[in-house]
Amino acid sequence: MIKKIQSDQLVLGMYVHDLDCGWMAHPFLINQFALTHPSEIDKIIQYGIRAVYIDTERGLDAPGAPTEAEVRKQLDIALAPVLQASKKRVPHAVLSDELVIAKRVLTEAQDVVQDILSDVRLGRQVELERVEPVVEKMIESVLRNPGALTSLGRVKQKDHYTFQHSVNVGVLLVNFCQHLGLARDVTRDAAIGGLLHDIGKMKTPDTILNKPGKLSDQEFSVMREHVTQGVNILRNVPGISSVSLSVAAQHHEHMDGGGYPAGLKGSEISQLGQMAAIVDVYDALTSLRVYHSAMEPTQALRKLFEWSPGHFSVDLVQRFIQCIGIYPVGTLVRLESGFIAIVIEESSTDLLRPVVRIVHDGKKDCPTTPRDVDLAKPSVTDRIMGNESAEKWKINTRAYV
Ligand SMILES: [Fe+2]
Repeated sequence: MIKKIQSDQLVLGMYVHDLDCGWMAHPFLINQFALTHPSEIDKIIQYGIRAVYIDTERGLDAPGAPTEAEVRKQLDIALAPVLQASKKRVPHAVLSDELVIAKRVLTEAQDVVQDILSDVRLGRQVELERVEPVVEKMIESVLRNPGALTSLGRVKQKDHYTFQHSVNVGVLLVNFCQHLGLARDVTRDAAIGGLLHDIGKMKTPDTILNKPGKLSDQEFSVMREHVTQGVNILRNVPGISSVSLSVAAQHHEHMDGGGYPAGLKGSEISQLGQMAAIVDVYDALTSLRVYHSAMEPTQALRKLFEWSPGHFSVDLVQRFIQCIGIYPVGTLVRLESGFIAIVIEESSTDLLRPVVRIVHDGKKDCPTTPRDVDLAKPSVTDRIMGNESAEKWKINTRAYV
């Protein structure tokens, strides 16, 4: 049986089933292993992993600890009011129209960020004037239809991870700032911070940055230096704002003080720093990496919610879930009727009932003529039962939105 326990209750002989921290925050490459040495428990705690899932059939039991199913049920109960309390803006532009513009904006942003990061490698100065025009275009696109840039950002090519991740953090921060009603200049500075938040990685040796295998403790601490390196670079950039700096400086801080580099706690971390930590992990979880497959957005949002008491601001994670929508545009879902559909528009009233495009008959396992259904309409009785894997059904979701 899979159970969840706090890391400080781990004992030798237990079998770790899932470290439950999204991979990027620890130096363990294998996520499943038997605890055979006290140093392994120390390391789990030292890296700020507050809770793990254990397999009681492969190791010692933890009597009284909740099972995975119980944890999931509790999460669903806690999430329900968050999803129902949401009020989404009605987009000004139709998704298919905005996607055309968003593709161009995304490419431009990736080119700009790639150029700037390459320049930093060569020791050249960062010029904010090169970032500002594309940031304005990102904001305009998100204002017209936030689903377009956000859904495009989930697709990444393996070789360009750092550039694409940087752009996505910028896009997600724009979206998040807009959702919270923050001022335009704050949104702009947050986006600049997002685009440049990992700039310090350009000072990380390639052998560590692109190492496909497990990082040693020593290599891991070199990797962590990217935050301080980044702040050192950005501090010397003429015109850089404190908001942009805080995004770069605080995107790996945790609310419980277990993050880095400063180990800041709670309100010591700025609001934008707290938001950056959320979007950074969300984008990493939903990306395909050498060491993990891409998580569906719904699952990634659930994980953020599960981790929020320690890692993230509970309130901001809830607002981020409302911002992205538990079934964001482009998500593949299974309906109660058995049809497989793609979310094409979020509902402004109920995040669980978006507009979907039915593309596949799941019972007969055959494609069907695409048709749109607004699940929020009172006359519609069908509903979403859960996420589906686009890989499993061999459906190219991008072809339909
Ligand atoms: Fe980072």
